[in-house]
Amino acid sequence: MRITPLNDAIGARVDGVDLAAGFDDETFAVLHQAWLDHCVLLFRGQKLSPAELVAFAARFGALEPPPGSERDLRADSGSKEADDMWIISNVVENGKAIGALGYGEAEWHSDMTYLDVPPTASVLYGHEVPATGANTWFANMYLAWEQMPASLRAGIQDARALHDSSYTSAGDLRKGMDDVTDVRAAPGAVHPMVIKHPENGRQALFLGRRKNAYIKGMEVADSEAMLDRLWDYCVADKFSYSHKWQAGDVLVWDNRSTLHRREAFDPKARRILWRCQITGTALPAASAA
Ligand SMILES: [Fe+2]
Repeated sequence: MRITPLNDAIGARVDGVDLAAGFDDETFAVLHQAWLDHCVLLFRGQKLSPAELVAFAARFGALEPPPGSERDLRADSGSKEADDMWIISNVVENGKAIGALGYGEAEWHSDMTYLDVPPTASVLYGHEVPATGANTWFANMYLAWEQMPASLRAGIQDARALHDSSYTSAGDLRKGMDDVTDVRAAPGAVHPMVIKHPENGRQALFLGRRKNAYIKGMEVADSEAMLDRLWDYCVADKFSYSHKWQAGDVLVWDNRSTLHRREAFDPKARRILWRCQITGTALPAASAA
């Protein structure tokens, strides 16, 4: 097994591991540590069945089933695989979408931070990918916090933010949700803006997503201005990696220390990704003892 950083900011490529064949606990311990250190792991040239993907993802923790709202969209709704595996796709078969999130741009975010306990990790497998577009970007929020100017740090060191649950990362209003007219009253969860990572104790900026975010206790205008400054700062190229997909790629990212986004792609191109999501643990504030 060989582990090679993808760039100076984030991510590492792992060669010499066949995920379908499985591996022992010692190998997984090395992978797990590399994943914590690099935030994102890339495995290329994999060939996985849904069951093999689910088995690999489950090494990282208990799996989180897709929410009913996403599963209901899918052509395989009701099948056994649909229980633990999500499908991200723009493909429509017999008039029904086979997966979620379509082909548009998905803005920078961490997954499902509108939950009190957001997922720990996501695993994404490139089953079928377009020749161009649809790159997935990742940004390292350890680095963003560590390198943040003191003037910006001071405003959020002990702050908490509300993470809105109304919209998907593709910008669509979720079923049954109302448009948000006052960010202070948005539905969702409140998290520390700087967390202490539950597994390695490192401090990381934790923003979730920009839309309808609100820094608790601030005037709305002040919160908006601060959030704009933070977002301008934290998704700079120097903290980021852009992944160009090949079929057979597997990406595993730490949802607590990273942000990600997806570029748009040609609606006529087919893209089918399989995803598993790992259930989270509580996120303590960086200032917590
Ligand atoms: Fe996402």
